[in-house]
Amino acid sequence: MEPVRWGILSTARINHAVIDPARESEKAVVIAVASRNLARAETYAREQGIERSYGSYKALLADDDVEAVYVSLPNALHVPWAIKALEAGKHVLCEKPLGRTPEVVEQAFDTADRQDRVLMEAFMYRHHPLTRKLKELVDSGALGELKQIRTAFTFTLDNRDDVRWRPELEGGSLLDLGCYCVSVSRLLGGEPERVYGRQRLAPTGIDVGFTGTLEFPGEASAQFHCAFDLPAESYVEAIGTTGKARVVEPFRCNDPHVDLNGSRIDVDDVDRYLLQLENLSEAIRGKAEPLLGRDDALGQAATIAALYRAAETAAPETPRRAAAV
Ligand SMILES: NC(=O)c1ccc[n+]([C@@H]2O[C@H](COP(=O)([O-])OP(=O)(O)OC[C@H]3O[C@@H](n4cnc5c(N)ncnc54)[C@H](OP(=O)(O)O)[C@@H]3O)[C@@H](O)[C@H]2O)c1
Repeated sequence: MEPVRWGILSTARINHAVIDPARESEKAVVIAVASRNLARAETYAREQGIERSYGSYKALLADDDVEAVYVSLPNALHVPWAIKALEAGKHVLCEKPLGRTPEVVEQAFDTADRQDRVLMEAFMYRHHPLTRKLKELVDSGALGELKQIRTAFTFTLDNRDDVRWRPELEGGSLLDLGCYCVSVSRLLGGEPERVYGRQRLAPTGIDVGFTGTLEFPGEASAQFHCAFDLPAESYVEAIGTTGKARVVEPFRCNDPHVDLNGSRIDVDDVDRYLLQLENLSEAIRGKAEPLLGRDDALGQAATIAALYRAAETAAPETPRRAAAV
C-alpha cells in the first residue's frame, strides 16, 4: 500500500512512538512536525530527519500533503487539536487519554464521522500479542470464572516542571497512569456498573495518587492504584475460581509473557508502537479495522469521569456515557 503521510503536533518526548516505527514501516512515513516555536520545530526536524517543519500546529494542518496527524500534546489539548485536525481533513492518532469526559470524546468522534476520517486513542499496549493472550486466557475459562482483577501503575515523578503536575493541562496520576489500569480492567471485566475512588492531592491540585474499584455486572470487580510518588511498579492480575494469570509490565510489554498458575507462557516480543501505527495506517487505506474506536474511548472516559466524581463525593458512582447526539 502507499505509505500514509504523517505529521506530528509538538516536539513531545513520546514522539518516538511514531517516528521510530515509521522508519521501519513501509506503511507510514513522517513528513512534518510542528511546534509552538519555529526554531524548535526546525531543529527537531533536522535531528529526526523529518522533511518539513512548522512554527504552529495550525500551519501543519494546512499542509495538504499531510494525511494523518499524531497528537502528542498535554492532555487538556488532546480533544481540541484532534477536532481541529479532523476538521482540516486529517486522520488522527491521539495520545491517551483522549478526553477526561465522555462528552468531549463524543464530540471528537462525531467530528471524525462527519469528516469521514479515522480517529483512534493511542493505547499502544492493546496492539501487543501479550494483551491478546491475557484476554484469551480469561475468555477461554482457563482461570475458571473471573472474580478479581488487580492492577497497578506507579513511578516517582521528580521533575516538578513536568506538565503532569499541572491541573490546567489535565495532569494527574489517574489520567496519566491509571487510565491504563482502567483500560485493562475494562478489557477483561467489561464495562463497570459502579466505581469507587479515592485520591491523594498534590499541592498543585492534581491527584498524585489514585486508588479505585470498578464493579462489573455479576460478581467480578477490579482494584487498581496509580501514583507519581511511589516506587515504579506495573502489573495486572486476573484471578478466577480455578486459576490466576499475572503479567508484569503489561503496558510497556517488556519481556512479554503471562504467568499462568506459576507456568510461563511467552508471546512474541514485538513493537507495540509499530503495530499501532500500522493498524491505523492500514485503517486509513481501508485495509483494516482500527483496533480501538468510539465505543472503547467512551467507556474509558465514562469510567474515568465517574472515578473522579466518586473521589470528590466519597460515594459510589455509575459511569455515564454522553447522551446520544
Ligand atoms: N503512549 C505512551 O507510551 C505515552 C508515554 C508518555 C506520554 N504519553 C502521552 O503523550 C502526551 C505527551 O506526553 P510527553 O510526556 O511526551 O509530553 P512532553 O514531553 O511534555 O511534551 C508535550 C509537548 O506539547 C507541546 N505543548 C503545547 N502546549 C503546551 C503547554 N502549554 N505546556 C507544555 N507543552 C505544551 C510542547 O511541544 P512544542 O513546544 O514543540 O509545541 C511539548 O513538547 C501525554 O498526553 C501523555 O499522556 C503517552
